[in-house]
Amino acid sequence: MTKTTIIEIDKKNIDIDRLKAGAEILRSGGTVAFPTETVYGLGANALDENAVKKIFEAKGRPSDNPLILHIAKYDDIWDIVLEVSEKAEKLINEFWPGPLTLIFKKTSIVPKIVTGGLDTVAVRMPAHPIAKGLIELSGVPVAAPSANLSGKPSPTKENHVKDDLMGRVDAIIWGGDAVQGLESTVLDLTSDTPMILRPGGVTKEEIEKVVGKVDIDPALQGFKDSKLIPKSPGMKYTHYSPKADVILLKGNLDDMIKGIKRIKKDKESEGYKVGIIATDETKDKYEGDKVISVGSRKQLETVASNLFKVLREFDETDIDIILAETFQEIGIGQAIMNRLMKAAGYNVVKV
Ligand code: TXA
Ligand code: MG
Repeated sequence: MTKTTIIEIDKKNIDIDRLKAGAEILRSGGTVAFPTETVYGLGANALDENAVKKIFEAKGRPSDNPLILHIAKYDDIWDIVLEVSEKAEKLINEFWPGPLTLIFKKTSIVPKIVTGGLDTVAVRMPAHPIAKGLIELSGVPVAAPSANLSGKPSPTKENHVKDDLMGRVDAIIWGGDAVQGLESTVLDLTSDTPMILRPGGVTKEEIEKVVGKVDIDPALQGFKDSKLIPKSPGMKYTHYSPKADVILLKGNLDDMIKGIKRIKKDKESEGYKVGIIATDETKDKYEGDKVISVGSRKQLETVASNLFKVLREFDETDIDIILAETFQEIGIGQAIMNRLMKAAGYNVVKV
């Protein structure tokens, strides 16, 4: 057991001394969980192999799953990447700081443990004031995966981090909700046509406006038992998975609602406890006490922001099966559906 210090910081009125205390832990080889605009991250000095090892241990993360390096200012990129292409520069100008992670060829000072043995490195500059300040004060690139136990949904609230990592990390910065709720977009720039390895807050449409054609890793179009292996090691693991089985219903809205009602009835008659992931517009159509709205169909940002919280909420119930509505894969809908599909292990019923 590690003694975990909770450091409370208000993002609207940052106490520099507290932030410095967090940065000092990072500099001396410790682990600190901190809020970003996407999800909470678990940070360590990326150039210190021992420190990075602590991240893998705390999360129970497979060692072949590489970490994202977080930097606070553009010039810090030159220590860790070999070259920045013209396309990369355009994307950085447009989207940094923010939820876009870019993959580059790495320099030799980036330890292999960070990149899972790959010769590429993922880099992101977060926009969250606490994350930015912490990284800047630490003076090192900060390796930070999402601050959850491996396999669990990424944490979007302080309490999620505490539930997963209390006693396993040196400090947790108590800094309010992570607003966007889904992890950053991961974009590979090492091939001619940039390829999205993980959809996220910055959408394909937005990236294409800046650099033209963008591919999506075909392995992500996934279906059950697909033989395609995702290019991003992290995307091959079961992930985001709640304890209950998740079944997605795909079709037009009325058919989804009917389908959910039908399957709920069938499964309940077999003795299962069934919960429903609904939306503000549909939640009143269902019966039962485990109907949770994940947000509004008219504002998919609310769905992105709530999804992981809702999946975690179901873990606190005795529900066996979660029936979930789905969303159009446009804009942020692409990232939402990617996470839902993974939570469901690609278990989809077309209606
Ligand atoms: O929003 C985010 O990206 C959050 C916050 C904390 O910044 N971080 C995050 O990290 O989601 P993590 O470790 O949970 O996810 C990183 C993803 C994994 O799927 C990993 O396999 C992939 O990025 N990745 C990292 N380095 C890579 C590389 N060199 N090549 C391909 N994929 C890489
Ligand atoms: Mg993660």
